[in-house]
Amino acid sequence: MCIRVEGRAYIGGHFVRIRLGREGCKTVQFSNDYIILPGMVDIHVHFRDWELAHKETLEGGAAAALAGGVVAVGDMPNTKPHIRTAELYKKRLGEGARLPIVYRVHMGVPVDLRELDIARPPTVKVYPEDVAEFGWGHIEALARRCAGLGCTLIFHCEDPAYFKDGERPPEAEMACVEKARRLAWDTEARVHLTHVSLPQTVDIARGWATVDVTPHHLFLDRENCKLGGLCLVNPRLREPGLRKLLLARLAAGLVDIYATDHAPHTPEEKKSDSPPPGICSLDIALSLLLSLWKRGVLTLDDVVRLYSHRPARFLNVNNDIIGGVFTIIKLEEFTVRGEEFAGRCKYTPFEGFRAFGVVVATAVGGKIFFRNGEVYDV
Ligand code: DOR
Repeated sequence: MCIRVEGRAYIGGHFVRIRLGREGCKTVQFSNDYIILPGMVDIHVHFRDWELAHKETLEGGAAAALAGGVVAVGDMPNTKPHIRTAELYKKRLGEGARLPIVYRVHMGVPVDLRELDIARPPTVKVYPEDVAEFGWGHIEALARRCAGLGCTLIFHCEDPAYFKDGERPPEAEMACVEKARRLAWDTEARVHLTHVSLPQTVDIARGWATVDVTPHHLFLDRENCKLGGLCLVNPRLREPGLRKLLLARLAAGLVDIYATDHAPHTPEEKKSDSPPPGICSLDIALSLLLSLWKRGVLTLDDVVRLYSHRPARFLNVNNDIIGGVFTIIKLEEFTVRGEEFAGRCKYTPFEGFRAFGVVVATAVGGKIFFRNGEVYDV
């Protein structure tokens, strides 16, 4: 069965009442208590699967995305095995193609850089572990090759030389950013710094790198997140003062992209004595961002720029309302409950947070997925 949606859409900076879908389909009307936004795009998620399917699967990840109004994702290559060859890269892309959302994966750092010539990935993700294992020389060679091939290096920017006794201080990020800056300058490679945790990084990146920030580095800090393993993430949560300055950079329009770093682990792992780093927020990331609109910190233009238009351009995917890629939001406040999350990850340090904007439906690929589980052609 097909439906046609009628409601108030935010297009080109204005609200307009529109009809989306084909003639002859049953029309479903949404009152002015709802808004229609372009599909959200998250360039940084971990959908795991393969040997880590106990943490999350491609299907579980896609369900969390749809629940959060997200129509396209950029998955990370630190799967098991790590995606370092053209063969694994293409295998993963092929598997992702079966999902109801648009799926991309960033390639991992190849041991043999010739893999890039075969895979031709638009993006390559560099981890501190890659720097520790292969050295900065290998990353520089990668950057040169990427510059030639036109791919973008995505840095998880923390220099492992600064890790000490299990701690990862802000200096690790600052040192890495300086190295990445030189590398961008010397090689002319395009650089993106992901999940930056310091306001200084946003400032220093201007002119040579783009940056994204996560919901957890914007909302959570060492004072307000005291849930042990649940609050553990890389880069670490920072002091409240630094968090507020990062939020101020976002409000000032200095941040390019908002991305979750949605990183599921099992609850047992997170509660253990040595919890792995990672926070789940894909289901609620848009609502957290909309709560900043509600509070007057951001405009609605900021919201769609940060979590839809800019990341759509980054991944080269469609986020066009008129093209049938949209999400419908009910304008009401709600309390975050991890148990309501749609993927495998059903816990979050945002538990109990008040967020704004309930995602009631997400449309992509000719289908509309409603919160209650109903699916229609559109
Ligand atoms: O906290 C994190 N968890 N940061 C990362 O960069 C990796 C991620 C994961 O894969 O669990």
